[in-house]
Amino acid sequence: MPDRNIEEQLTKFLTDVHSIEVQAIAQLERAPDIAVDEGLAADFRQHLGETREQERLVREQLELRGADPSTLKDIAGRVGGYAMVAFAKLNPDTPGKLTAHAFSYEHMELAAYELLARAARRAQDQPVLELAEKIGLQEKQMAERLAEDFDAAVAASLRDKDSDGIQGELVSYLTDAHAIEAQALQLLESGPKLAGVEELAQVFRDHLDETRAQRQLVEERLRAHDAKPSRFQSAAMRFGGLNLGGFFGAQPDTPAKLAGFAYAFEHLEIAGYELLRRVAERANDPETVSAAERIIVEERRAAERIAGTWDAAMDAALASLVGDPAG
Ligand SMILES: [Fe+2]
Ligand SMILES: [Fe+2]
Ligand SMILES: [Fe+2]
Repeated sequence: MPDRNIEEQLTKFLTDVHSIEVQAIAQLERAPDIAVDEGLAADFRQHLGETREQERLVREQLELRGADPSTLKDIAGRVGGYAMVAFAKLNPDTPGKLTAHAFSYEHMELAAYELLARAARRAQDQPVLELAEKIGLQEKQMAERLAEDFDAAVAASLRDKDSDGIQGELVSYLTDAHAIEAQALQLLESGPKLAGVEELAQVFRDHLDETRAQRQLVEERLRAHDAKPSRFQSAAMRFGGLNLGGFFGAQPDTPAKLAGFAYAFEHLEIAGYELLRRVAERANDPETVSAAERIIVEERRAAERIAGTWDAAMDAALASLVGDPAG
């Protein structure tokens, strides 16, 4: 029966968002200690309270559906489902990286609730639909607060640094941007065959060419600062101190999750370039400022186009679950 299938899919999505919230709590408990800036720390504390309540509301829905609490515990500890759960376990060590990481994570959550809302609408489940809309709004608002914190995060990261120190930070942010573009190329090269839906595959193909040019542009800015290729090559698998191996090792298993993951990834890039732009301003490097501004426009457009595929991705997820096109 298609109805039973859609119910099962809804339970699966609820299980996924539950594991996302469990990881978010662990992340938000650590965040205030790394934030340095008091306003940033306060935003994390506020969202920790909201997130504990979100976890409780999602768990309540799962229990109403007869999900076994021991299964919940297992799934929460597992690095499956969303690859971003692996990302949440990484430990950003500076206010800038923390803010970029959190900004991306909130967008991953937002995507997960957008998808949950679509599944709930198809299952005609009003309580889950209301839950997804309510929590999705909180995630969106937290992401907006974090965007307003970019200035403070850069100021906190550059605090006590002289002009040599600021130049060093600029090279470090450029190195991170280069590493993240290398990861983006991997995602976009394998993306079209994983996408499952043509709309999403096309977004990946279009963004692949842009991403190659972005990496080139970042390399030029690194060379302008006399950063040797070997120095940034060796960082290819790292985003600052963050090892992305586990992040990419846990491949999303459905078009819907891949769309959510790619949306979060674009926001990791957006945050990275928003921070880079600010550091470049402080370092009096207008060429890097304009490179970052140009790339941000492309990353934002890619993110919006990915968000435009969620309906199609959800249809594909449900169709594959039913396994019977006539059903
Ligand atoms: Fe959140
Ligand atoms: Fe990029
Ligand atoms: Fe991108």
